[in-house]
Amino acid sequence: MLAAGLPRPAVLPWADVLTGAAPPPAGALVRVDSPGEDPQVDRLLRRSVASARHGELIGLADTYAGLVDGLARVAAGGAELLNDPADVAALCDKRRCHARLSAAGVPVPAALPSIGGYGELRAAMAEAGWARVFVKPAHGSSAAGVIALAVGPRGVRAVTPIEIAPDGLFNSLRVRCYDDETTVAALVDRLAPEGLHVERWLPKAGLGDRVVDLRVVVVAGQPTHAVVRAATGPLTNLHLGNARGDLAELRAAAGPAAWAAAMQTCVRAAACFPRSLHVGVDLMFLLGWRRHAVAEVNAFGDLLPGVLADGRDTYAEQVHALTSGRWQRWRAATKVLSGAVTGREPVACGT
Ligand SMILES: Nc1ncnc2c1ncn2[C@@H]1O[C@H](COP(=O)(O)OP(=O)(O)O)[C@@H](O)[C@H]1O
Ligand SMILES: [Mg+2]
Repeated sequence: MLAAGLPRPAVLPWADVLTGAAPPPAGALVRVDSPGEDPQVDRLLRRSVASARHGELIGLADTYAGLVDGLARVAAGGAELLNDPADVAALCDKRRCHARLSAAGVPVPAALPSIGGYGELRAAMAEAGWARVFVKPAHGSSAAGVIALAVGPRGVRAVTPIEIAPDGLFNSLRVRCYDDETTVAALVDRLAPEGLHVERWLPKAGLGDRVVDLRVVVVAGQPTHAVVRAATGPLTNLHLGNARGDLAELRAAAGPAAWAAAMQTCVRAAACFPRSLHVGVDLMFLLGWRRHAVAEVNAFGDLLPGVLADGRDTYAEQVHALTSGRWQRWRAATKVLSGAVTGREPVACGT
């Protein structure tokens, strides 16, 4: 902001927004960041599960409801959110996000209909003929509660950062593997009441001995910043100890045509959320590099420290889009499209 000659932005802590202590002034442009992991904010968001401990995988749906309420509170005061509350609400529900992308023809992994528990999951997998799925809490992020599940004649194998403690399930920073079916069934059954999104597990492309995917930040319709996430297992989220990979190497492996097609997909994914200045697209090239699919689109996906494009980080890029007229042009270009996309959204989203 300052570098662009604009006034210093005011920073409003989530806690103050949620308690009503500090509403943003009417007319202010507001960039909302992820509520993060602050324990007080966490408690304020998930009011009804006041007893949840830090990192505990309960109350995800409540946290989501608290987030949606908080955004509405900010908007009600007359501030303008750079990522629109309705878009953020759709983005933070993996079922709705997937349904919106799918309806717009963006390549996404196939998904199962609403799953209420492990028995239903296995039945739906058998019916679809799938041996491998990704089970994702509908309102999770940063791999919290995600299970990469494979079933076969020799049993089941669940790869996940979920830690099973005697008194509950906790998000952890270490990916582990469970192969006892009773345990895996209990995991799924405990997560299911909060809402699950289950997708076919697509084999991702690799570089060297690593599996990779990409976080692509799209600002006002342009994919400007990208980070390669390289992992030894199926979960590539960087905070799980995975390393950033080499973007030039990935582009060379994909080749110009597949790269251009993937970036086009990122633009189309962003266009599904046309009132949002930025989105973070998790893009998977599939084994062989010819095809790709979107794993999810993030409302708060622009934290890419140290990644510069034309000398700008992802935040400076947003200011640039606002001050150069690019945002306004993108909004105008997506106006027609947005009606069509949001109009079709409720198809098969299950909420
Ligand atoms: N359908 C899928 N097939 C293969 N890998 C997937 C699939 N969906 C997600 N992943 C991988 O799982 C990780 C987390 O998935 P994501 O949908 O981005 O959820 P989160 O919000 O937890 O980051 C990412 O590393 C992504 O590459
Ligand atoms: Mg992700």
